[in-house]
Amino acid sequence: MKIGIFGGTFDPVHLGHIWTARSVRDELGLDKLFMVVAADPPHKPDPDRTPGSVRYRMLESALQHEQGITASDVELKREGKSFTVDTVAHYKGQYRGAELFLIVGGDMLENFPLWREPERILSMAKLVAVSRPDERRDMRAIADSIEERFCGRVLLSSFDGPDISSTEVRRRMRDALPVDMLVARPTEHYMYTNALYMPKEVVEIRSRLSKLLRRKRLNHTMLTACEAVKLAARYGVDTEKARTAALLHDCVKLPNKELLEYCSEHCYDLTEEEKNNPYLIHARLGAVLACEEYGVTDPEILQAIKNHTLGRVGMSLLDKIIYVADKIEPTREFEGVDEIRDIAYIDINRAMLLVMRHSAEYTVMSGRAINPSTQAVMDYLENEMRTNTEDNDV
Ligand SMILES: [Fe+2]
Ligand SMILES: [Fe+2]
Repeated sequence: MKIGIFGGTFDPVHLGHIWTARSVRDELGLDKLFMVVAADPPHKPDPDRTPGSVRYRMLESALQHEQGITASDVELKREGKSFTVDTVAHYKGQYRGAELFLIVGGDMLENFPLWREPERILSMAKLVAVSRPDERRDMRAIADSIEERFCGRVLLSSFDGPDISSTEVRRRMRDALPVDMLVARPTEHYMYTNALYMPKEVVEIRSRLSKLLRRKRLNHTMLTACEAVKLAARYGVDTEKARTAALLHDCVKLPNKELLEYCSEHCYDLTEEEKNNPYLIHARLGAVLACEEYGVTDPEILQAIKNHTLGRVGMSLLDKIIYVADKIEPTREFEGVDEIRDIAYIDINRAMLLVMRHSAEYTVMSGRAINPSTQAVMDYLENEMRTNTEDNDV
């Protein structure tokens, strides 16, 4: 049996890591490859590092469909300071008679002689240094000296995958920039639902929402933010505004009975239409609370929150983005949603129109009356689509 061990902080795991694991697995014909999450430094917690258990869960979800590649928490479970030699010994004991390969980044090769018990590591496993093809020549000289000094084998493997760093992923999460090209989809969703690497204001909003909203609604909110950021980036809209609007769009989305009680307790006047259709309340009230309770003063954000349920003739691009993101975020399931997900990144007006038509059909089927403004908004969107087509033709 051939077993690979690939350690790292994975804070968070990104597509470069997964690419490396896949290519080494295939190149060496590994039966199993363990991606081992580095432990939190004992007695000296690193405030900038995400807790090991969280990094492990992200890794585990990113690898769920990978053939022969598994997340390992063996170093997290170990007491005291964690050394690579102990991890290699762990797998040596678990897979007696197997051929072990320890995979490291090429940049770590130079320091390998300084690791704890390098000779023992090489007595149990072959070292595989992964580097860019153009760095390979320098690597060979270092590898030769390690082989000679410690009587082991050092293999070189070329990496031609995407150039991604975890630092870049964290920076983009903080700055409300899309990360879908850098991490696996489950990692992206995990980071959003848990507000990882986000500014403290966002973490604070999530924490406050978690006290009011049910878990499913909270996850929907965080994933709406994920979708809104990507749509905003696609259409050149301020992504931070999109993230804030999405985070607060359902800030008071409670079951109808609770919502009516909330309004009477807080003395919020309701329109006749809202009294007859309580689901409408949370949009207008959400905008009020976003301002009064969460300190949002930007009128564009408040308007997007207010318009996310019914839309509005003349609505802004940010309004449309929040409306559509709300309906296509990854947990939404309805017939045709995948097609609308694709269209949303091509033509936001058409995506919104399709969502509105779907909702209108659902409303009719449920025996309720379509809101009087709906047809006007749909006509407006069709007109926008026509105008854009004519502009493109010119
Ligand atoms: Fe809503
Ligand atoms: Fe929503």
